[in-house]
Amino acid sequence: MKKDKKNFLKELKEGLSKKNKTIPSKFHYDLLGSKYFEKITQQKEYYPTRKEKEILKKLSKRIPFLFSGDLSFVEIGSGAADKIKILLNKKVKYYIPLDISVDFVKKSVANLKKKYPNLKVKPIKIDYSKPFKIPNFKITKKIYFFLGSSIGNFHNKKEINFLKNIRKSIGKKNYLFVGVDLIKNKQILENAYNDKNGYTSKFSLNLINIINRNFKSGLNIKNFYYKGIFNDRLKCIQGFLVSKINQSFFLGKKKFFLKKNENIQVEISNKFTTRSFSQLSRLAGWKVKKYWLDNQKYFAVFLLKS
Ligand SMILES: C[S@@+](CC[C@H](N)C(=O)[O-])C[C@H]1O[C@@H](n2cnc3c(N)ncnc32)[C@H](O)[C@@H]1O
Repeated sequence: MKKDKKNFLKELKEGLSKKNKTIPSKFHYDLLGSKYFEKITQQKEYYPTRKEKEILKKLSKRIPFLFSGDLSFVEIGSGAADKIKILLNKKVKYYIPLDISVDFVKKSVANLKKKYPNLKVKPIKIDYSKPFKIPNFKITKKIYFFLGSSIGNFHNKKEINFLKNIRKSIGKKNYLFVGVDLIKNKQILENAYNDKNGYTSKFSLNLINIINRNFKSGLNIKNFYYKGIFNDRLKCIQGFLVSKINQSFFLGKKKFFLKKNENIQVEISNKFTTRSFSQLSRLAGWKVKKYWLDNQKYFAVFLLKS
């Protein structure tokens, strides 16, 4: 069995053996999962993409003044590389997207080359849920990005380890832009994760297909439905696959059971205040230089300095 597949099996077994079953959200992103995510970002209920883009448009005018000389943009979890297009300018010589779904990224960045023929693009596969090294190309000054409120997708407050890891990996006096979704009205939050066209549901149910394709588990997508709810106590959206029936399935030789109405948590999206995210960043050893908000104060983009 290949290493990636072995890890997938190990993490699946771990998550599904817990009392409250979980599957890490990074496993959503096969090619189809990445396409579904792109669809989610286009839904009218899904405000985070629109709001973050509104802020990045403001920022695009500032970036050439914030940083002098030639630049390289390193984007962690870039996905479709859609937002970085707003920020690119002639000073940017390299774009380095780092993502678990690197085949999707390679396809997505193909048209960047048309608009910016001199831009060198180097997609790299990483898994940022574990400690990882950011490739240290000795090129221009590098500016780092972690957009799309992906900082909210860590369980058990592990985002602090992620922020510490990047800071150590990139060294002192470097800059990281982070997109952060803010706590707001519960209905607005829940609508964003339960779009009427059902793309969030398709994105989550696709996990069952990914598991079956890899392990012939005997799971059937028809025996699940998706729900996204805001947990007021933990200040996060939790996405669940809910079992419609009592059922069993296999992972390798191990048999698992799911009761009717039992939840598997497949998504977490922690929400912050500007204060709580500033505190978190400082605890991880970053300086908070500045943050920008959209006009409804739904979303923030932070600029951190190591
Ligand atoms: C919520 S999407 C955000 C995409 C994009 N940054 C945006 O703002 O629209 C998360 C992205 O991170 C990638 N990703 C998720 N978990 C990852 C992990 N553990 N390591 C590396 N990339 C991951 C996914 O493939 C996806 O492209």
